[in-house]
This record gives sequence, structure tokens and C-alpha cells, in this order.
Amino acid sequence: MTTWLLTGGAGYIGAHVARDLLASGRQVVVLDDLSAGHRDRVPADAAFVEASVLDTDAVRAALTSYDVTGVIHLAAKKAVGESVEKPLLYFRENVGGMTSLLQAMADAGTRCLVYSSSAAVYGEPPWSPISEDTPCAPLSPYGQTKLIGEWMVRDEAAARPLSWVALRYFNVAGAGSPELGDTSANNLIPMVFDALDRGEAPQVFGSDYPTADGSCVRDYIHVSDLSEAHVAAAALAESGDVAAIFNVGTGTGASVWEVMASVSDVVGRDIGAVAVERRAGDPPELVASVDRISGELGWAASRDLRDMVASAWAARG
Ligand SMILES: NC(=O)c1ccc[n+]([C@@H]2O[C@H](COP(=O)([O-])OP(=O)(O)OC[C@H]3O[C@@H](n4cnc5c(N)ncnc54)[C@H](O)[C@@H]3O)[C@@H](O)[C@H]2O)c1
Repeated sequence: MTTWLLTGGAGYIGAHVARDLLASGRQVVVLDDLSAGHRDRVPADAAFVEASVLDTDAVRAALTSYDVTGVIHLAAKKAVGESVEKPLLYFRENVGGMTSLLQAMADAGTRCLVYSSSAAVYGEPPWSPISEDTPCAPLSPYGQTKLIGEWMVRDEAAARPLSWVALRYFNVAGAGSPELGDTSANNLIPMVFDALDRGEAPQVFGSDYPTADGSCVRDYIHVSDLSEAHVAAAALAESGDVAAIFNVGTGTGASVWEVMASVSDVVGRDIGAVAVERRAGDPPELVASVDRISGELGWAASRDLRDMVASAWAARG
């Protein structure tokens, strides 16, 4: 039986991954500073270390004392807008976090890593679907820190034994169970629910994009599907000397109007979404090519947009 350490394992995605890793027969240690995570989301049968990933000594001690085989590195700051306001915070936490983690792993001799990267590394590619070979041109400090993290892992793997998988998540949504919802309102579906809670009409930013219905198209991925991709990635990393980057999405886009229609369907009434002006910096369409992850990892998403909206609605606070 192998043991995996999850940095950021008390957060939205990490809480799902912890459960699925345990269900796969692996042991789990969660290391989280609880800056955004919740202690009560750590499963009872996982060990918990309250520490920052920036604390190299604490990470090294956790790797050594639990005899950890691999790390799933989820801990990060993740708000694109905040990263524009506070770039140094993002470089310190996300790049500094990766530096500290890789140092601790080198010291402890830990050789497997799965890294939470993001579609934000691509910026605004002129074509869709987006394959992993698309040139990366992130538009925010957040996206830059995620791309730098990939470079650091790649360079470290050239210098010492490291078997690694970077997962570029597209738009994560939904909940695996009602107590595991996304508590940050950075993404479209939680933002729509917030508007409804305030008695306001949800807004559709831009209706004149070159898409089928004029609104932006994104690739929404259910957090439970994403979580299962981590278990497959961990198994792949364990299997040998791996260096891989995979998009994690469904390969199918949904427009903002389609999301609004799905919310209306789930809540049982017309939510009265209204079209307003475009927001600056929203590309028309960002959809993942999932050929590589299905071919090389044998993983494919199985849940649809309605599953995401319905489970997120059931999990709202
Ligand atoms: N949610 C998304 O749509 C999305 C999309 C692409 C990539 N990602 C990436 O996935 C990862 C997890 O995202 P999430 O949505 O679960 O976010 P989250 O904020 O819910 O979880 C992040 C967790 O990391 C912890 N953390 C933050 N800084 C830390 C530090 N220095 N030391 C230890 N713990 C720390 C937080 O307390 C939290 O529990 C992040 O790396 C994020 O960039 C998320």
C-alpha cells in the first residue's frame, strides 16, 4: 500500500481527491495551512498536518515520518483577479510553494508528483479545442505561476529521479456530496447561485461573441471526474519514470446561456438571466482536447453539465 501526501487537501478539489485515493486503497496525508480549506473536510481516516507548504522543514518531516511515495500538489492561491492586484502574493505562494515542496521531496527522496496546473497557462489561444502542444501564453500572474510550476517540475525531473504528471484543469464545477461544494465564488455556477440568493438576475457577459449563441463557451468538468483523474495520474506516476502533461476537461464546450438554462432546469423556474456588456479579457471559447488523457491515461469524464449544476445546487451553503 502506498501513501500520498496532498498539499491543499482540505480545499474544494483536494477533499474529493483525498476520498478517492483512500477508496483506491492508498493511504492519505493532508498538509494544509487552512488559509482557504476546512479541517472538517479532511476524511477521518486521513492523517492531517496543519502547515504551510512554504515551510520546507514541516513538509520534509511529513514526507519522512509517513514514508510518503508521492505528492499531489494542490495548495495554491487561485483567484485570477486577485493575482492581478497582488502578483507578489501569487509568486510567493505558488512559485515559492513549489520551490519549497520540490526541495523537501528531494531531501526526503520522494519520487512521484501530481501537480494541479490549469487551463490558465494557455491564455487566449486562437483555436479550439486546445491540445497540450498549444503554445502557452498565460494572461495573468496566476496563470504564469501555474506555468512556472510546470517548468520547475520538468527541470527538477531532469536533475534527479522524479516521475510526474501535471493536470491542466479546465472549469471545475459540482460537488461529489452536499458537504463538499465550492465555497469560493470565483466560477460561473457559484456566481449564478450567489446572484439568485441576492434576488438578482444572473448576468451573461457578452452576447455577440463568435459562438453559436453569442455567449462565451467553456469546458466544464465535474469535480468528481477530475478527482478520479488524479487517482489515475497517481497510479501512472507510481508505475515508473513518467513525465506527462494532460488537459482535464470533457472535450465539449457549454455556453453561458446553456449553463443558465441548466440552472433554470435544476431550480425549477426561469432564473431570468440577462445579457450585459462583455467583460474585458474573456476569450470566446476555451475547450480542451482530451485525446491525450483518454489515450495515455485511459480516463474520460462521465458526468454532464446537469450533474454539475444539480450537485452544486444541492451543496450550496
Ligand atoms: N477550482 C478550479 O476551478 C481550478 C481550476 C484550475 C486549477 N485549479 C488548481 O487546483 C488547486 C486546488 O484548487 P481548489 O479549487 O481546490 O482551491 P481551494 O482554495 O479550495 O484549495 C486550496 C487549498 O490549499 C490550501 N493552501 C493554500 N495555500 C497553502 C499553503 N501555502 N500551504 C498549505 N496549504 C495551502 C488552502 O487552505 C486550501 O485548502 C489549486 O492549485 C488551483 O490553482 C483549480
